[in-house]
Amino acid sequence: MSNNFEDMDTEEEGKKDMGDVYDNFAEAFSGSDKLPSWEFVGKPTLERLLKEHFNSSDKFLDLGSASARVEVDLLLPNGVPSENITGIEISPKQVEIAKQRVPGADFRVGDITKLELDPESFDVALSHMVFEHLDDAGLSAVCKTTFEALKPGGEFIFVVTHPDKMTDLEGKLVTEDGPFTTTAPWGGELLNWKRSVERTREILEAAGFEIELTEDVKFPEPSEDLSEAEKEEYMKHYNYYNSKYPAMRLAVKAIKPKSS
Ligand SMILES: C[S@@+](CC[C@H](N)C(=O)[O-])C[C@H]1O[C@@H](n2cnc3c(N)ncnc32)[C@H](O)[C@@H]1O
Repeated sequence: MSNNFEDMDTEEEGKKDMGDVYDNFAEAFSGSDKLPSWEFVGKPTLERLLKEHFNSSDKFLDLGSASARVEVDLLLPNGVPSENITGIEISPKQVEIAKQRVPGADFRVGDITKLELDPESFDVALSHMVFEHLDDAGLSAVCKTTFEALKPGGEFIFVVTHPDKMTDLEGKLVTEDGPFTTTAPWGGELLNWKRSVERTREILEAAGFEIELTEDVKFPEPSEDLSEAEKEEYMKHYNYYNSKYPAMRLAVKAIKPKSS
């Protein structure tokens, strides 16, 4: 199995590899619900940006839904009915786990860069920690399909690894835009793509989106209600991430204009 662009014969092989990578780590990844980067950074960021869509009849599209961490930890507890959720994921094993965890949702095996979705069928499209796996052509394809699949006024909300926090296999910061291999917190190696915030904005705008925000997300200040022991544990992560990186995540909210 290859995890490196240089070793890949074709783009297709790269995509197949990504499915294999996440198939192989399916069990380990299902423990990723406990990662501080999810619990204290990714989850609250998505929760804040998605707030208006909770407790409504809105239809959700999750791009790169893996084993349904976002659904189980965030969407369902915030009143999103499972029937209103469609998730697309390239790893069949992850989809199997997602289906078991959230039986009412529509989880499908698929490549998000080659999707065929009904036009104007979703109110919101979201993605968490997926687009760093895609090159510019892949992200561009995702943005175009998502634009078509959203209703006018629909929102595209996503969180990715911040380009200033991308590290290679030796833990060194990646400075050049383009492909690199990194380690995953749940084990193994992963192919990632570094892209500037400006490039992400250009790709979204070329697809027709109006960008409402791009936000550099740091590890947040501790909440007041932590016990002393919890705060001590929390501050270890806070100090580690905030001393090492200017930002951990890039959060984006883009709108499909009502008259496009
Ligand atoms: C870091 S995981 C994040 C999963 C999930 N969004 C979450 O936060 O729990 C990245 C996921 O993106 C999926 N993925 C990567 N490239 C993909 C593609 N082209 N099409 C569909 N899924 C893809 C991987 O298989 C993996 O499950």
